[in-house]
This record gives sequence, C-alpha cells and structure tokens, in this order.
Amino acid sequence: MTIIAPSILSANFASLGEDIKVVEKAGADWIHIDVMDGRFVPNLTFGPPVIAAVRSATKLPFDVHLMIERPELSLGDYIAAGADRITVHAEACLHLHRTIHAIKEKGLPAGVAINPGTPVAVLEPIIHDLDLVLVMTVNPGFGGQSFIPYSLVKLRQVRAMLDERGLNHVHVQVDGGINQETAPAVIQAGADVLVAGNAIYGQNDRAAAVAGLRLGGQQ
Ligand code: DX5
Ligand code: ZN
Repeated sequence: MTIIAPSILSANFASLGEDIKVVEKAGADWIHIDVMDGRFVPNLTFGPPVIAAVRSATKLPFDVHLMIERPELSLGDYIAAGADRITVHAEACLHLHRTIHAIKEKGLPAGVAINPGTPVAVLEPIIHDLDLVLVMTVNPGFGGQSFIPYSLVKLRQVRAMLDERGLNHVHVQVDGGINQETAPAVIQAGADVLVAGNAIYGQNDRAAAVAGLRLGGQQ
C-alpha cells in the first residue's frame, strides 16, 4: 500500500494548522515537514517552535525532513516538538552513522536522504541501520520543481540493494515533482512513500488529489 505524505511546504503558512487538518481529512497518511536552514539549501522555512505549534492539529505522524547542516545538534529539539520520524541528508552529516544511531537511540525511525547528484552507493555501509531511504527527485529547497528522470534509475538501485539484503521493512520515499503523471513510474521503480506538495495543496479537491496519487500506483 502506497503511503501518501503531503508536504506542508506548499500549504498556506498563515493557516498551517487548518491546512494540516484538510489533508488529514483528505486521506493522507503522514504529514511531511520540510525544515530548511538557508545554508544546506537556499531557502529557510521553520523549526521546532512552529512544528510544536501545529502538533495538536492532527494525529497523523510527523515525517520531518531535515534539510539542515549538522542536524545532530538539534535532533532533541525536533523530537520534543513532535517529530515521529526523522530523515537527515547524507550530504549534511559529517558522521552519518553516528547521527542515524542518535535518532534510533531516541526511539524514532531514521531516514537518510540523498540529493539527485549523490550516488546510491553512499547508502551501502548504513543501509542495515535505516528505516527509510529518501531518494530526492528534485534538488531540495523549493516546492513546485520538475521531476528529474534519472531518479528512476536510482530508485531501482535502492530497491535492488534492499531486496538483495532482505530489508523489506525499509521504506523508499520520493520527494519532489511527484504528481499523477510521475507517481506510477516511481512506484514501479520501487517507491512506497510519495511526498507531494503542489500536487495536493495546489488542487482545490485535496481528497481527489490524494486518491489520485494512490490510484496512480495501481495502474
Ligand atoms: C523540496 C522539499 C519537498 C517539496 C516537494 O526540497 O523537500 O518536500 O515540498 O514539493 P513538490 O511536491 O511541489 O515538488
Ligand atoms: Zn521534503
């Protein structure tokens, strides 16, 4: 079953709580929260206080995507704010193995994201420790960008890496440019968690958008 995770980067920040409730009602599974620091990525969003403020808006899990340098320094703040799972970028961690284990020791599922320019091979030494791999399908920083087709090759490589090791419990997430046109291909290539910003918040009927993404996977 494909998991649909709307990205609140495309929500109206003036009514974030309401916009989270809207996608919960629309049938979303996780709430994807894009934290950007203006350094690792050329954009700045929000941090723990805003996450804590909207935590009571939904019972859905908060899937926190940290696009920040040195995430190991603030993991505790995101967990206290209500993160249910945390994904860090391989490129942003000097000690990736240590950071993954720091997340797991705090009792949360740990994910590692790789940028479009990062080879899948960086996952090899840590793949056994992960709960989720995030294959970025755009360069991180902004919503509404176009899907990078080579991502499909990388998705197949990640899926093969997991299959060869019998790691069927590890989620494979995609993020960026996911819509009804690209969803079927990414699911076929091995993704089981679809993040979508514009393809959900950019539509008037969010329930139809969520259902459409799921349906895309069944074609
Ligand atoms: C990009 C973010 C994404 C973004 C996706 O850096 O990580 O989560 O919100 O937006 P869409 O689905 O509009 O490409
Ligand atoms: Zn994201």
